[in-house]
Amino acid sequence: MSKTTAVADLTEEDAQQELARLAAELLRANQLYHAEDAPELSDGDYDALKRRNAEIEARFPDLKRTDSPSEQVGARPSDGFAKVSHAMRMMSLGNAFDDTDIVDFDRSIRKYLGLTGDAPLAFTAEPKIDGLSLSLRYEQGELVQAATRGDGEVGENVTANARTVADIPHRIAGAPDVLEVRGEVYMSHQDFEALNTRQAETGGKTFANPRNAAAGSLRQLDSEITRARPLKFFAYAWGELSAPLAETQMGAIQRLKAFGFQINALTRLCATPSQMLDHYRRIEAQRATLGYDIDGVVYKVDDLGLQSRLGFRSTTPRWAIAHKFPAELAWTRLEAIDIQVGRTGALSPVARLHPVTVGGVVVSNATLHNEDYIAGRDAKGGVIRDGKDIRVGDWVQVYRAGDVIPKLADVDLSKRPADAQPYAFPTTCPECGSDATREEGDAVRRCTGGLICPAQAVEKLKHFVSRKAFDIEGLGAKQIEMFYGDPVLPINTPADIFTLQERDTKALARLKNRDGWGDTSANNLFEAIEDKRKIPFARLLFALGIRHVGEVGAKDLALFYRDWDVMAASIDTARPAALAQRAADEAEEVERIAAADEGRRAKLKDARDSVIAGREVPADAASAWADLIGIDGIGATLGLSLSDAFANADERAAFDTLRKHLEIVAPDAPASDSPVAGKTVVFTGTLEKMTRAEAKARAEALGAKVSGSVSQKTDLLVAGPGAGSKAKKAADLGIRTLDEDGWLQLIGDL
Ligand code: IVH
Repeated sequence: MSKTTAVADLTEEDAQQELARLAAELLRANQLYHAEDAPELSDGDYDALKRRNAEIEARFPDLKRTDSPSEQVGARPSDGFAKVSHAMRMMSLGNAFDDTDIVDFDRSIRKYLGLTGDAPLAFTAEPKIDGLSLSLRYEQGELVQAATRGDGEVGENVTANARTVADIPHRIAGAPDVLEVRGEVYMSHQDFEALNTRQAETGGKTFANPRNAAAGSLRQLDSEITRARPLKFFAYAWGELSAPLAETQMGAIQRLKAFGFQINALTRLCATPSQMLDHYRRIEAQRATLGYDIDGVVYKVDDLGLQSRLGFRSTTPRWAIAHKFPAELAWTRLEAIDIQVGRTGALSPVARLHPVTVGGVVVSNATLHNEDYIAGRDAKGGVIRDGKDIRVGDWVQVYRAGDVIPKLADVDLSKRPADAQPYAFPTTCPECGSDATREEGDAVRRCTGGLICPAQAVEKLKHFVSRKAFDIEGLGAKQIEMFYGDPVLPINTPADIFTLQERDTKALARLKNRDGWGDTSANNLFEAIEDKRKIPFARLLFALGIRHVGEVGAKDLALFYRDWDVMAASIDTARPAALAQRAADEAEEVERIAAADEGRRAKLKDARDSVIAGREVPADAASAWADLIGIDGIGATLGLSLSDAFANADERAAFDTLRKHLEIVAPDAPASDSPVAGKTVVFTGTLEKMTRAEAKARAEALGAKVSGSVSQKTDLLVAGPGAGSKAKKAADLGIRTLDEDGWLQLIGDL
């Protein structure tokens, strides 16, 4: 996209050429997005191209092409479809890959609910349809809105298109006043083949697989195009309801059927994990003859009362899981191994493959994980692939499971070239030349260059501006590459983004001429940056790129602490306990390797002793640490990484500077009408009506904060039989104390 001339300086000839180029580029981008669902451009880059096109057209109206991208119907949904907030979040599913995962699934649900091994617990089992999910909202029986999943919270309004799908009724009788039906839009194999044939004959684009065809067809801005595409719909779930549909999953699905929806005929009720696995195998055996794509089997707790007790983790229900079919496989040649340096300094080996089709998708890259993996060992030193290493030139087996990054499964030694050499993993960073080292127990080799490593800095910045982080329009990966280290107007740290405008407007004028920024695009960029000065807490935390802090972890942290300064202070307070935790982990490691390696043991022991020498962990540190790692979904690994990041002087300075430029928005308190919303609650003693995990999840769902220790900040102690020191402390501090029934009454569950 980088065109070096400002629009004002373009000659007519340049402009004509550039408009032609932009038309071609945008056409291709649209095709990749719609036809293949495999966009190469970020939304920011795409929009920048469109803006550039519009600017040139505004200056040279006569040169506007008949196929001008500004008139294009098949634009991206971000441009074309209205956004819709889902009344209830559209969840995804946790994945299971083998039989033991299913046994564990049953066991963990029993544990959560406090059910014994022989108490009845039934599940439905049904095919997992490989299409795209859709939420249909009916009010007084009338279809009023259809929305795609989007990010789960906000999707695209595709109502007009959904109305063209024969399986989707416009009116239903006997339904609750508000009913959101959820299910999967898909295309049958037969219809897919016919569509591709027709497309090829008429010079239209063809689709790589039925899923892409379904997605591309539903996301047409012109619903007449959707009408001509043979889409189908299976109903399997629901969102908001004004009245319950039934008492069981099976019963609810039967009601959806009675309303006129298609439900999958292979849905069965199973009483045990072994029945679930039997049905899985039955479905797998029929997979090839079903006539549509499925990629696994979904199990759901049948009793809706239990479903609601089990509730949700951040993005997935506890009461359902997807049991995926084994991945698809193909053989090809490994042409090269490249090393990429990530934002945490990790050296990631990437396999460059001779392109090969795996399950309908062309694959030319695959991850090689780390150096042990290439050498044929797993993280614990065990043998994988019978110990076969991977070499450039090898004949390798590639697999894809669902939409995850392709991986290598096997090597065919009989086809290994005679001159193939074992791969020597670099011990210096290919980007900055610093040493690349491996820490004890870490499978990954990391560049030690920190902020001096341009690859790390650039990757951190790219992550910072990425879609799920700050998502700044017009400032994508490409622009970061351009601004990073720029002699005139550098963006070298996140805070630099927010000082761009105030730093030097003249410099920008110079930059503009050099890099194709017009007045409009520069102003748009400044506006987009201004827009993001106000940022949700969780997004900011995710954007910082702290190791192990993903989108979900960031949300959990933000919900718990609600305020940046509160969080930072608490992490600081917890530091001595975090260090003690690390020392304890290391002590365990010392014990583990004691017999095996005397020298290494001595070294580790010294390190540990120096950390814990004379250190007593203050009570407030222990309590702050317990709060942090007690947050559902946050463990010691994430806690330690967060603690290290905040204790690192350089990183902390970068956070603090950045913070000055931002207005951090606290997350919405869930269910604020509950009397426990916003309160800090501690559970102690034995609970008799539910497990501790369930009590904690329920309290958090009502907006309470659950802490592991009693302090001045505690609002309420729930004490079961056998409560000890915590009850005493609460009494001393005059904190309100309830028994389990009192608690249930307070939250309206009794
Ligand atoms: S239930 C709260 N049932 O799989 C749980 N999902 O990987 C709602 N999917 O986003 C989902 N077939 O689009 C459910 N029989 C089925 C499904 C199914 C396909 C999709 C759905 C979901 C995704 C999660």
